[in-house]
Amino acid sequence: MDKQNRKAVIAGNWKMNKTATEAAELIDALIPAVKDADCEVVICVPFTDLVTAVEKTKGTNIHVGAENVHYEKSGAFTGEISADMLVDLGVEYVVVGHSERRQYFAETNETVNKRSRAALAAGLKPIICVGESLDQREQGVTEELVRMQVKIALNGMTAEELKNVIIAYEPIWAIGTGKTATAEQAEEVCAAIRKVVGELYGEEAAKALTVQYGGSMNAKNAEELLSKPDVDGGLIGGASLKADQFAVIVDAATKG
Ligand code: PGA
Repeated sequence: MDKQNRKAVIAGNWKMNKTATEAAELIDALIPAVKDADCEVVICVPFTDLVTAVEKTKGTNIHVGAENVHYEKSGAFTGEISADMLVDLGVEYVVVGHSERRQYFAETNETVNKRSRAALAAGLKPIICVGESLDQREQGVTEELVRMQVKIALNGMTAEELKNVIIAYEPIWAIGTGKTATAEQAEEVCAAIRKVVGELYGEEAAKALTVQYGGSMNAKNAEELLSKPDVDGGLIGGASLKADQFAVIVDAATKG
């Protein structure tokens, strides 16, 4: 299976933006803008926007994701949201291990693994984020670090479960900075991710895996990034908050 046979997935990551009222407006603009997409279109939105997003996107080609999930099924975890709660709302995807969660909320590779497995067990598709800091890139440990992040994130997952996993390569230095990895840098690490998954699950599983790039992907650079053989989609922050820009990226995935 090569790129043409893999599912390209363009996912917006709204982060802590948009009230439910504003979310409704953005989704109204998005629906016509992406209706002819030839790839999977996902919007990952704040918990408080999920009900609105699921209701508004019913009968459209837009799928809804959350931005985090707790790993326990239920219990005394004040302020947390379980995978079953998300599934019950009609949520299909969830971002796990975003670098902002790792950096500001003490997320570790181990909790990324636990959250991803809880998501899969409940029927959600985790978008697992990995990526290096600028320091780590300059020290030449990007590939080793990303391999380790992937290995720990997938620890204990079955090959069947892996079919519902997306891995997003997001270099931390490119997130929200306007500094994008070059298409070559993105390709190099996305290919390394596919390689390590191949070592763990075999060639076929690796070839079927959707690997996204994320980090200042926008309407201008998306086509080049998405043209690379191992870049199957994007996780888009800033540019996902503007319907017209997001639509251009979705179109670029169709061409890529
Ligand atoms: P950005 O965010 O597109 O604003 O850089 C990407 C992400 O954090 O997923």
